[in-house]
Amino acid sequence: MDIAVIALISPVILTGLVLLVMSLIEPHKLNITREMLSSSAKEGSPDVRLLFFSDLHAEFCFIPKERVEAIIREEAKGKGLSAVVFGGDIINNPKKYKGGAEYLTYIANVCKELDIPFEGVTGNHDVKIPAKAISECSFHNISNGYTILKSLKDGSDIALSGVNDSGRKHRIWYEPPTIPDTCTKNIVIAHNPDQILNITDCTKVDYMISGHIHGGQIRTPFKIEFTSLRKDVLPKLDVIAGEYKINGITLFISKGIGCVRLPMRLGAKPEINIIEI
Ligand SMILES: [Fe+2]
Repeated sequence: MDIAVIALISPVILTGLVLLVMSLIEPHKLNITREMLSSSAKEGSPDVRLLFFSDLHAEFCFIPKERVEAIIREEAKGKGLSAVVFGGDIINNPKKYKGGAEYLTYIANVCKELDIPFEGVTGNHDVKIPAKAISECSFHNISNGYTILKSLKDGSDIALSGVNDSGRKHRIWYEPPTIPDTCTKNIVIAHNPDQILNITDCTKVDYMISGHIHGGQIRTPFKIEFTSLRKDVLPKLDVIAGEYKINGITLFISKGIGCVRLPMRLGAKPEINIIEI
């Protein structure tokens, strides 16, 4: 090969190799984020304190369950936790759900020991997992249901409600469940953040917490991960990860902890979120 051609392609190959190595390392690097979504949380007096993790995709999750356990124990010992919440997508291959069930049951046992509720919803990757197998994952499944948490501030009822995910193939957007009138806040957990565009009465929801987008998982300069590879609406509007206000609802989107399709992340580190509301 001509030396000039080699000189020309060498930096491209080198850059590709560096990016490849970086993308294989990044799924192992966990961020812990701290989110204060309400004014009372910003003032240091939240109603609830949640540990949220989403998008386990257990075959391609490189965050050990013991690491999640350590974070739960540390937060519980510190300011305390109202609940640990899982945002859906247990596994990539539904036939191998047992890997996800084992991981989530381990977390459930930690929560049980610490007397912390472990709530969760299912994601689009979970629709082919039988209901009995979902129950083996040991979280309290609030997809199309709710649980009541007591406000850390004044003891009032706070609803933590969940929306079922129908999966991508024949997408149905379900409405969030009706919650008791006594609740002073309604926090909705919906795997797919596009759910927020499909709620008939947004006045009934105060906060929505989601995953699904993986922060783009592998970020590219021209955002093809959103324009070509995903059908979701919000990422195309640059709503990808973090806090947003949409239709009067405060939305938080987590980057999740696992990977889909490829065991790689680039520019979208896995994260666990401590969320105060
Ligand atoms: Fe996912």
